[in-house]
Amino acid sequence: MSSFDWKSEVVVVTGASAGIGAALAREVGKRGGTTVVAARRAAALEDVARSTGSPSLAVVADVTRRDQVEALARAAIERFGHVDVWVNNAGRALTRPAIELTDDDVDLMIRDNVKSALYGMQAILPHFRARGRGHLINVSSMLGRVPFASFRAAYSAAKHALCSLTENVRMDLATELPEVKVACVYPGVVYTDFGTNAVGGGPDSRSLPGGQTAEEVATVMADAIASRAGGDVYTRPEALERVLAYYRGLA
Ligand SMILES: NC(=O)c1ccc[n+]([C@@H]2O[C@H](COP(=O)([O-])OP(=O)(O)OC[C@H]3O[C@@H](n4cnc5c(N)ncnc54)[C@H](OP(=O)(O)O)[C@@H]3O)[C@@H](O)[C@H]2O)c1
Repeated sequence: MSSFDWKSEVVVVTGASAGIGAALAREVGKRGGTTVVAARRAAALEDVARSTGSPSLAVVADVTRRDQVEALARAAIERFGHVDVWVNNAGRALTRPAIELTDDDVDLMIRDNVKSALYGMQAILPHFRARGRGHLINVSSMLGRVPFASFRAAYSAAKHALCSLTENVRMDLATELPEVKVACVYPGVVYTDFGTNAVGGGPDSRSLPGGQTAEEVATVMADAIASRAGGDVYTRPEALERVLAYYRGLA
């Protein structure tokens, strides 16, 4: 395992104009790392880049567009020479029970939560392969492990698909590129604009009990970067036991 020095780390974070992504960019900056922050809202993104306190490049990109994700990877490498960590954090929820879902609902959730991350992994992997190292981090959700919230059925299904895809990438790279780590992060409720941004409305995440702040989640994610964690990263200590208890109950 190679040694870790935040000063030489270049971390790309998608969905970094707000919420968890913005908090992660600030946490990485606070620790001395360089960030490349991406999202669609340019002004908010520039504010986040300035607030990191370390070198940071803002790149406007819609992660549902493969060409824009590829351009993001090129911009990061061109500016800083290399990328160490790529965090597919951008995502979006949709509120509708499974039985009422339309074709468009399902397509939207797969596009925003699965294809977006796939584009990211595929865009940066050639660079990681050439360097023989790197860290892919996909942000899923506890709803991507356990379908606790049936009103978020298509979102939950998409995040399950993202976990599965992430794990398959991890398995495929484990032998060929053991120094390319692949992790999936599972936040529970986080107090961000996520709920109010959900298609179809639904509860404001900030009104739900037992949540975490974006800063708490960012600290766990930055620790995962520093330890080059692969596999599953739960943002709360009790989360894995909740997942296991759910499946034990079904068995
Ligand atoms: N908050 C929670 O309770 C919670 C729980 C579990 C998992 N998560 C996951 O955590 C991740 C971050 O969520 P959050 O809570 O920080 O949500 P948020 O506050 O709604 O922020 C979402 C971020 O993603 C960006 N984004 C959305 N669609 C995009 C697109 N097509 N292209 C580029 N950027 C896009 C948004 O920026 P622009 O609008 O500027 O593009 C924003 O920066 C998501 O993957 C979410 O599913 C959240």
